[in-house]
Amino acid sequence: MTILVTGGAGYIGSHTCVSLLESRYTVVAMDDLSNSSEESLRRVGKITGKSMEFFKASVQDEDALSGIFDSHKIDCVIHFAGFKAVGESTQKPLEYYENNLASTIALAKAMSEHGCKRLIFSSSATVYDGRNIVAPFAESARTGNCTNPYGWTKFMNEQILRDWAASDPEVSVVNLRYFNPIGAHPSGLIGEDPRGIPNNLMPYISQVAVGRRDHLSVYGDDYDTKDGTGVRDYIHVMDLAEGHVKAVEYAMEHTGEAVFNLGTGTGYSVLEIVKAFEKASGVKIPYVITDRRPGDLAELYSDPSKSAEQLHWTAKRGLEEMCRDTWNWQKNNPNGYEGQRKDD
Ligand code: UD1
Repeated sequence: MTILVTGGAGYIGSHTCVSLLESRYTVVAMDDLSNSSEESLRRVGKITGKSMEFFKASVQDEDALSGIFDSHKIDCVIHFAGFKAVGESTQKPLEYYENNLASTIALAKAMSEHGCKRLIFSSSATVYDGRNIVAPFAESARTGNCTNPYGWTKFMNEQILRDWAASDPEVSVVNLRYFNPIGAHPSGLIGEDPRGIPNNLMPYISQVAVGRRDHLSVYGDDYDTKDGTGVRDYIHVMDLAEGHVKAVEYAMEHTGEAVFNLGTGTGYSVLEIVKAFEKASGVKIPYVITDRRPGDLAELYSDPSKSAEQLHWTAKRGLEEMCRDTWNWQKNNPNGYEGQRKDD
């Protein structure tokens, strides 16, 4: 069974390649390397002892897609490739809509033309109408009302794929809504390697720990939460990766569109994460409390029961493991895959 993984060199993509290879799938990876490094794929090979084919191309490149589908019998596609920086999406909305929507459409068209009809899409909890619903978020909860163009591209891509599935009884689409992926493969060989200043909490903390950043800014301590700081559903990236393997199995057995949360169902506050990371690393994380970040919500965590029942998947790894593996990756690769970055 052959799986095409778009965005295969990225953070979640590379960890998913490990899980797929370990589950004996043949993997073909595609990535334009605009926000990732081919080194991650070399390390996937090192971890698994298995090889995979790699195509350096954008998913918007229709000729490249045709070339891959013409030369391989692809059974299922996992589509990770896309722009993902929330702040940047508000500065460059047209680039975000163009890239994230055009690539999904080009991919689904190429799949239809080549008779490949199973697609797993990398969606996000950001599609939930978090300002008007209360955690835990089940898949049936209201979506929309997104706070930024990035979120809307996830919302719109889900709809495009839902419509595609409705148009052809052979199509199987699984939209996976991720909560907050953190951690790294326990080998410390692959992990999250953001370019520039990290937007997300865990990579920021780990760069403070390794001395690349001075201190963490905690965005507000006056939320209506256990300690006043924001609460999120952090999930180990290897649990997330294994969720994709389950989604592939699901897509083999079902047609139509399905949506599943990939989260743990447990919420941790920013300060709980800081403490857990300090414990795992033995490094003190200096922080200051600042204003709230615009668009942030107080509390956001999943109801993972549908995934447990229908996808036969639950997250197994706890916060200690998430922090340990993040630290293991960061201390072994203080500057990510490619040494000191020019943009630092
Ligand atoms: C963010 C995005 C979300 C995206 C997700 C991808 C926003 C508003 N939301 O989610 O759309 O799908 O990343 O992983 O950007 N925090 C700090 N200091 C920091 C960074 C974060 O205190 O330097 C706090 C935040 O206020 C929040 C928590 O840490 O309470 C988690 O933040 P983050 O990692 O950015 O994730 P989300 O905001 O949940």
